[in-house]
Amino acid sequence: MTPHKYFIVTATAPVNIAVIKYWGKRDEVLILPLNDSVSFTLSQDQLCATTTACISPAFTNDAFWLNGKEESLENPRIQNCLKEIRRRAKESCSSCGSEDDITSWPVHICSANNFPTAAGLASSAAGYAAMVVAVAEVYGVSGGDLSVAARQGSGSACRSVLGGIVRWYKGEQLDGSDSVARQVAPPDHFGELHAILCVASGRRKKTGSTEGMRRCVKTSLVMNMRLTSTVDARTKNIVKAIAEKDWSSFCDLTMSDSQEMHAACLTASPPVVYMTDTSHAVVELVHEYNRVVVKEGQPQLKICYTFDAGPNACLFVPAAAVGQVMSLLLKVFPPSDHCTLDTYLRGLPCPTPQLIP
Ligand code: ADP
Ligand code: DP6
Ligand code: CO
Repeated sequence: MTPHKYFIVTATAPVNIAVIKYWGKRDEVLILPLNDSVSFTLSQDQLCATTTACISPAFTNDAFWLNGKEESLENPRIQNCLKEIRRRAKESCSSCGSEDDITSWPVHICSANNFPTAAGLASSAAGYAAMVVAVAEVYGVSGGDLSVAARQGSGSACRSVLGGIVRWYKGEQLDGSDSVARQVAPPDHFGELHAILCVASGRRKKTGSTEGMRRCVKTSLVMNMRLTSTVDARTKNIVKAIAEKDWSSFCDLTMSDSQEMHAACLTASPPVVYMTDTSHAVVELVHEYNRVVVKEGQPQLKICYTFDAGPNACLFVPAAAVGQVMSLLLKVFPPSDHCTLDTYLRGLPCPTPQLIP
């Protein structure tokens, strides 16, 4: 008996944090957005998903494990990603029709995040980006735009297949072929920048992003205003701020967009509530910090916050301000014995920090 063949590939992908939010779809199946979005992809060695894909003629069916637990493959999003990659593999397949036609071999996919899943820290973005990269590689797909495949797993994932500052163009085509992500600036565009993630809770959110945005599109007047009169102009302005390396405007536009998305959430029916008292305390702290640095004539030290669909702030902080910002955060939100890295990775609640006057 000849032994079975196994091909195996492992890939990692980092999270990306949107500064202009993707919030609302025009096509739920193809995952086509209602507006362009812009994000920062964090560096690979921070928050990331690691995915291993293994194909073999010995497998009888596809299978998927997330964070050590087998998940149902009935999830149409995973199905759509696999379909897209296999379609491409067949296009460029040299073994098709032969006994060694690898495109017909089932795949086993195993993924784990090194940070909380479904807590508003973009796990779906890192997860589906790592998945399409690993699956494409194991089926021998080379070249091509992987952002289109990742997008069909989770919209935000299309931006995680690229580094630096990335724009996802909503596109015009009905089939989504032009709804793609492109890098608009390299990672060091604004000099050395740090992302400080302030984890207020590592718990799974009550309302996932998919449902949250759907409810906003259907019921929120603020969402309607966003889509008809503000978000496109803000996108244009942030792209200009990026081109001109205007850090101060970049910060202001980032914070406005986060607040607008969460205002849309609060005005949905029933309301979608992601930010907590702790999140609002972080917002207050950042505005106060910025007021002081601007007053002191140092706008280059400004920082900005942004919240995805969860209570956890991501702060973008220039390297020269990191020491000061970290000590401020530790003073205002003193670390608690009950809230260690382990606590948050296990999704247990951290006590609400008290603001120290
Ligand atoms: P988040 O804010 O963390 O992106 P979402 O509600 O957008 O939360 O998505 C969470 C969902 O994304 C999970 O329930 C799971 O279906 C999917 N997901 C998360 N991590 C991975 C991963 N590593 N691989 C594949 N899918 C993942
Ligand atoms: C607030 O990409 O998680 O993070 O496409 O339904 O999977 P689905 O949603 P998802 O939404 C991300 C929302 C956001 C903003 C953003 O990343 O642009
Ligand atoms: Co997500």
